[in-house]
Amino acid sequence: MNECKGFGRGGGKIILLGEHSVVYGRPALAVGLPDGVTAKVAPSARKVGQIRCRDWRMEIPLNSGDRSAEAVRRILRRMGEAGLAWEVDLEVQIPHSAGLGSSAALCVAVARAFGELRGRRLTDGEAAEVAYEGERSFHGTPSGIDNTVAAYGGLVWFRKGEACRRLELPVALHLAVGVTGLGSDTSEQVGLVRRAWERDRARFEGLFDELGELVRLGRAALAAGDIEALGKLMDRGHELLGRLGVSGPALDEIVSAARASGALGAKLTGAGGGGCAVALCGSEEGARRVEEALKKAGFVAFRRRIRPGGADGEEGL
Ligand code: MEV
Repeated sequence: MNECKGFGRGGGKIILLGEHSVVYGRPALAVGLPDGVTAKVAPSARKVGQIRCRDWRMEIPLNSGDRSAEAVRRILRRMGEAGLAWEVDLEVQIPHSAGLGSSAALCVAVARAFGELRGRRLTDGEAAEVAYEGERSFHGTPSGIDNTVAAYGGLVWFRKGEACRRLELPVALHLAVGVTGLGSDTSEQVGLVRRAWERDRARFEGLFDELGELVRLGRAALAAGDIEALGKLMDRGHELLGRLGVSGPALDEIVSAARASGALGAKLTGAGGGGCAVALCGSEEGARRVEEALKKAGFVAFRRRIRPGGADGEEGL
């Protein structure tokens, strides 16, 4: 390792079940994506360095009002660093504002890179905690699921205020993702749900309870390797998210096209309003068919295989 540089990585995420209700204390299930954000941090010759990201066409001074710059400043402060004489270079494999956790991946990558620069490898728990500080500049008071999955990866059971649990994934998950091309602004969507909840708490608490129950059933289905059951739960999850008011025509279209082309289940993923929908498929070939169908319907689409694996690196259990 070069002493004057630090490298770090954070992963993207797909929420399988439980977005929004997780903000209200219900559990959620998510998987880390193999794609993510890599950060390189080095001392700057300037008093105020820059964040550069060619993939996002971003080149901004660290003292700018941009949310990414603010996030990096918060992370630096959290790590005891007062100055801004740092050059931060990012390489990004996920689109931003798409519900795939790019801001959390960025925050985890930067936290880990600064840790390495300081000669300290952050644990997953530490990286998630430091990254949460940065996430607040993007999303106000997020539940913490995105930064947790960005740091831990794998299959994650998350509940606000509890230690993260990495679960055993007994079988590979074949996912196809359709991108609406419309921005998904997490704080806006969370605010929308909050206002609706304030107007009718009883109804929304009922919806959150049902979403929480889906997550519990989803965990049991996954533990049994019952992917078909998980698909059905995701279908129901999409319906409930629609009732929360966070779906939209493009997301619904992706979900319908995915089901029509053989997906076991499909739903919007992340905050909604725009962003992406995810389809669970029975095989690699099935995911390829769904991906093709989504492309044919005019959407950008991709597929990912989430490899099975153990709950290695468990913390706080
Ligand atoms: C965003 O990826 C997930 C939401 O539940 C917000 C949050 O948990 O902070 C919509």
